[in-house]
Amino acid sequence: MCGIVGYTGSRSVSPILIEGLKRLEYRGYDSAGIAVKTESRVEVIKKKGKLRELEELVQKDPPEGEMGIGHTRWATHGVPSDRNSHPHTGCNGDFVVVHNGIIESFQRIKDQLEERGHIFSSETDTEVIAHLLEEEYQGNMREAIIQLFNILEGSYALLVLSRKEPDKLYAVRQDSPLIIGRGNGENYIASDIPAFLKYTNEFYLLDDEEFAEVQKDSIVIYDIMGEPLEKEIFEVNWDSEMVEKSGYQHFMLKEIHEQPDALRRVLGDRISPGNINLEEINLFPESIKDYNKVQIIACGTASYAGIVARYIIEELARIPVELDTGSEFRYRNPLIDDKTLVIVVSQSGETADTLAGLRLARKRGARVIALTNVVGSSIAREADDVLFLKAGPEIAVASTKAYITMLAAFYLLAILFAKGRGTLDSREVEKLISEVLRLPELSAEVLRSSKDKARELAGLFKETKSSFYIGRNTDYALSLEGALKLKEISYIHAEAYQAGELKHGPLALIEEGVPVVALASRLSLFDKIMSNIKEVKARGGTVIALTFNGKEEINKSVDHVFFIPRINELFAGAVAIIPLQLLAYYTALEYGYNVDQPRNLAKSVTVE
Ligand code: BG6
Repeated sequence: MCGIVGYTGSRSVSPILIEGLKRLEYRGYDSAGIAVKTESRVEVIKKKGKLRELEELVQKDPPEGEMGIGHTRWATHGVPSDRNSHPHTGCNGDFVVVHNGIIESFQRIKDQLEERGHIFSSETDTEVIAHLLEEEYQGNMREAIIQLFNILEGSYALLVLSRKEPDKLYAVRQDSPLIIGRGNGENYIASDIPAFLKYTNEFYLLDDEEFAEVQKDSIVIYDIMGEPLEKEIFEVNWDSEMVEKSGYQHFMLKEIHEQPDALRRVLGDRISPGNINLEEINLFPESIKDYNKVQIIACGTASYAGIVARYIIEELARIPVELDTGSEFRYRNPLIDDKTLVIVVSQSGETADTLAGLRLARKRGARVIALTNVVGSSIAREADDVLFLKAGPEIAVASTKAYITMLAAFYLLAILFAKGRGTLDSREVEKLISEVLRLPELSAEVLRSSKDKARELAGLFKETKSSFYIGRNTDYALSLEGALKLKEISYIHAEAYQAGELKHGPLALIEEGVPVVALASRLSLFDKIMSNIKEVKARGGTVIALTFNGKEEINKSVDHVFFIPRINELFAGAVAIIPLQLLAYYTALEYGYNVDQPRNLAKSVTVE
C-alpha cells in the first residue's frame, strides 16, 4: 500500500506535499516523489529510499508552484528504484499520475499500448494509466477519467495532474481509500486523514467509482457516469498533536504508553458496574439468540485478537466461533448464512482482504459487525454496525494500542453474548464486568513495573536467530501476538507454539541459549505449562516466563519472570501483552532498527 497526497491553493506546494507524505510514510517507504505545476511546466522529482532522501533533493532546488501531487511507495510491481518511483508520466508528459493499489489488467493494457508505439520507462503497473490517458483524452478530462473506470481492473486511488487542464487536480477512487480535505481557498487530497490534519478536519470521503475535480476554490465530486454528487462533509475529532511523537523516541513507544487511556476510551460508557451497553451497534443481550455461529474475519495483529476472542466467547457464551484470516476466508467458500454473526476486525478499516471478507459475508446474508479504529474507513462504511475502538491514530506499523482495544471490545461482546444466552447468571456477569473495569489501571501498573525488565531482557535476543513463544489456551493466542511483535520490528524468527505441542516436533529446535517466552496466566493450566517449561529447560532453553503476582514458585524453574497483577485469567491478555510489546521494542532498539517503519511492511495493506 502506498500514500498519495495532492494540494492546490496559494501556498508554496513542495513543503506541503513533503509534510503530507511524512505523515503517510507508515503506508510505504520504498521510494517517494512529487510533481509540481510550475509557471512553465510540470516538474517531477522522485527518488528511491526513505522520504528524507527526496526531501534533501527537493530542498536543493525546490520547484516553485501552488499545485502538485506526491507519493510514498510500498513496492508491488517493480523493485524499489528511481525509475519505478511515482509520479509516472506517459510518452508526451501531458498526464502525471500517482497511484495506490494494483492494476490487475496492466500487462494486457501495456502490451496493447506498446503495439500502438508507446514506450514505457518503468516496470510498474501504474505507468499504463498515464499512457492510457494519452489515448483516451479527447478534449474532456472527465470523459477520459470515465474511460479509465471502464478499462482498468483492480484497485486504484489515483491523482492526476494534466497539462491539458492545468488548474485542476483529478482524484479517482476504486477499491482504495481517498479523502479530500476542504480548506479556505485551498484544498487537499490524500490516502488518509493524518496527511493534512494540521490544515483541516473537514473531509469528503470518496466512495468506490467516484472521482473529483479539485481546484483551489472548488471541489466537485462525480459518479462513474460523470453526474455531480452531493457529498456530506465529514468532521474528524482528531488533532494534529495526536499524530506527533510527543517527546517519545518512537510512535510505537508512545502508543504502548497510550494503552491505559485507549482502554478507558474503548470501555467508556459501554460498561458500568453490572452492565454492558452496546446499543450503539444495535446489539442487545438477546440479539445473540438469532445466531448459531460467530465468524471472525481479520488479518495480522487483528486476527490474533480474534483468536483470543474465540477462546473467550466459546468459554463464556457457549456458541461456536470460527476465525479466518481475510485472505483465506475470501477463497474458501465458507459456510455463512443469515444465522451467522460476522465480526470483522481491522485497525485501519482498509485492509483489502478483510474488506473482501466483509463483502462476501454480506453477500451470503450474514450480519456484519466491524471493530475498527478509523471512522469513515471503508470497513466502517460497509459494515452493518461498527464498534469503534477509539485507540486514537496509530502510526507505528506494528500495532499495539489497537490490539489492546480489540481485546477489550471482545471482552464486552463475550460477556454480553453469555448474558444473552443465559450461560452466566447476573452475579457471574457482575463479577466479570468488575474485572474488565480494572484493566485501565492494571495496564498502567504493568507499564511501570515491566519496562526496566523488558529493557534488560532484550539483550537475550541479541545474537539469536530464533526464539519461541509458548502458552496454552488464551496464553497460546497471546503468544502469537507476542511473537509477531518481535518478528515485525527486530527481524528475529519467533515462533508461537501451543505449549503442549512442543514435544511433537519443535522441541528439536531448542538448544542452549534459545530464548523461550512462556506465558502462564491461565492458572487453571498452570501445572501443565510448568511441565512444558521443564521440557524446554531440559534442552538448555532460556525461559522468560510471564505469570501473576503470587506465583513466585515459578522462579525456581525459569530464568526470568514478568509478574503481572492478578485479574480474571480470561482477561489477562490486555495486561500481559504489554511486557511482550516492550520486549520486542527494546530488542529492536538493541539492533538499532527503524522501529516505526520496519522493512518490507506497511500499516495496512489495501491491495490483495
Ligand atoms: C499489516 C500491519 O499491514 O496489516 C499490521 O503491518 C496489521 O500491523 C495488519 O495488523 C492488519 O491491519 P488492520 O488495519 O486491518 O488491522
